[in-house]
Amino acid sequence: MSSEEATSLRDLQCGHVGVEHEGRRVTVCGWVAKRREHGEHLVFVDVRDWTGVVQAVVPGTVDVRPEFVVRVTGTVSRRPEGTANERLATGLVELTDCDVEVLNTAEPPPFPLDERTEIDEAVRLRYRYLDLRREPMQRNLRVRATINRALRASLDAQGFCEIETPLLWAPTPEGAREFVVPSRLHPGDFYVLPQSPQIAKQLLMVGGFDRYYQIARCLRDEDLRADRQFEFTQLDVEASFVTQTDVVRFVSQAVAAAAAAVTGEVPQDIVTMTWAEALDRYGTDKPDLRFGMEICDLTAAFATTSVQALAAPCVKALRVPGGGDLTRSRLDALTEQAKAHGAKGLAWFRVSAQGLESPLARHLAPEESAAVASLDGAGPGDLVLVVADEHDLACRVLGALRLTLGAPPVGAGPYRYLWVTEFPMFEGFDEEGDLVAAHHPFTMPVAEDLELLGTDPLRVRSQAYDLVLNGWELGSGSVRIHRADIQSRVFRALGIGEEEAASRFGFLLGAFRYGAPPHAGFAFGIDRLTAILVGEENIREVIAFPKTQSGTDLMTGAPKQITARQMRELRLGAARPPA
Ligand code: AMO
Repeated sequence: MSSEEATSLRDLQCGHVGVEHEGRRVTVCGWVAKRREHGEHLVFVDVRDWTGVVQAVVPGTVDVRPEFVVRVTGTVSRRPEGTANERLATGLVELTDCDVEVLNTAEPPPFPLDERTEIDEAVRLRYRYLDLRREPMQRNLRVRATINRALRASLDAQGFCEIETPLLWAPTPEGAREFVVPSRLHPGDFYVLPQSPQIAKQLLMVGGFDRYYQIARCLRDEDLRADRQFEFTQLDVEASFVTQTDVVRFVSQAVAAAAAAVTGEVPQDIVTMTWAEALDRYGTDKPDLRFGMEICDLTAAFATTSVQALAAPCVKALRVPGGGDLTRSRLDALTEQAKAHGAKGLAWFRVSAQGLESPLARHLAPEESAAVASLDGAGPGDLVLVVADEHDLACRVLGALRLTLGAPPVGAGPYRYLWVTEFPMFEGFDEEGDLVAAHHPFTMPVAEDLELLGTDPLRVRSQAYDLVLNGWELGSGSVRIHRADIQSRVFRALGIGEEEAASRFGFLLGAFRYGAPPHAGFAFGIDRLTAILVGEENIREVIAFPKTQSGTDLMTGAPKQITARQMRELRLGAARPPA
């Protein structure tokens, strides 16, 4: 018998009882999954723990019901001829002549725990402790633990040092709203929960820890979505005396180790693509490479078009294989989607043996028709969608339609990883006319673009890179600015004055005066990686106690009011007196 799983109360876990134990008397512990009477003097009790179910045959009567906690001692026996259960790992054996000790009783659970029935998620979350007892959550959380273990092993092997950073902290620059914690000892003052360990890890570089990692809890008060929770976990990495190439190598190795530990397959060499190329070919900075449908260019073909709707600086198109049978109402819906993404309209063309079918078809010049009809190897039965506009907008619109028309569910394999590099330094301008950083303000511009900072900042590329998996952003990172002169130029471009910089990030800038090494780093979402690897669409399914879409915890009732006394101590009474 395995000595590791034996405890003072049991010899074996339920799912591990097998023919190799035949003839022995063993004790298992678990929950009653099912009981069946067999005649008057025999009861069959299925006992379950996370490893599986074993059948116990109990002579006489026994007072147990589903979810009672039991300790069963019985003799491992082969099941009689013809009664083996092939669907069960323990199906060749059963425990006979059992003694049953009831360790605890249980009320009937609000939903069955052994069936693969759909259960309303609100009920699952309210009774999460019971939901966790079910197979899917057991599997998901254990896969998550496997991923953490593999990540730790990989980073340890690569010479990284695991360091914890504070949760009660000061503002961090990740761009989301922050959760704040009132200070009792300093009434009126607040800690801020970190959106990431970004600043702390850069300080660790100044502190000489040249390879740091952490499986870090991060907190962001942002609108929740399938891939977003308030609280989530990053594998956070930072290293000194490195370039982007080194960080990409460290992280690729760690992710490959995690993926291999779960799927048994080591991901192939991860493709790299610049941000500009990703936008041009897929209309997004997180392309899903599991399917083709690349965006094609028709600008040259339509350079002198007389069709008003297609006259624009850029004409982009998408071939939808077999899309010729999409109904008119579906095409109208796609047009609405295109408009919602900012397009003025969407032109569609059904390709048939006779030519193009579309309200616009008869207005096209012959070369224009020919270019559309042969787009990306198009043939009869296909559909071609065309957007004429500014380059980025045309690409983004078609990128969105590409996903609507072609994307498999995010968790459906195969796994296609991708590094996207050379992100633009700035996203655009805010209401005050200041530039907005695309990553965070400590990101190093590409050296040759530095001179554009003052003249054409939107063209400045940064040394920032993302890791993408199946159309989800898995993680982001960058080479950091370690020199004060470049940092103040970037702050200036972002409209962050010296005073503001000093009050928000003074301690970091101060630290940088004492010999900051060149450094770079990365962080990726462990919730997201786990969800994709177990085939789930929502990261809630890989988190033990997640929040709902509206940010509540249905089990604890959080967020909740606190007591009047706590309010007084924290001097919050004035803000919102308790009811
Ligand atoms: P960034 O803000 O891009 O970068 O975050 C990195 C990764 O963290 C995950 N993530 C989330 N996962 C679940 N719920 C959320 N609300 C959420 N927000 C982010 C994503 C994302 O790609 N400090 C930088 C990294 C660096 O530069 O080193 C940072 O946090 O998978």
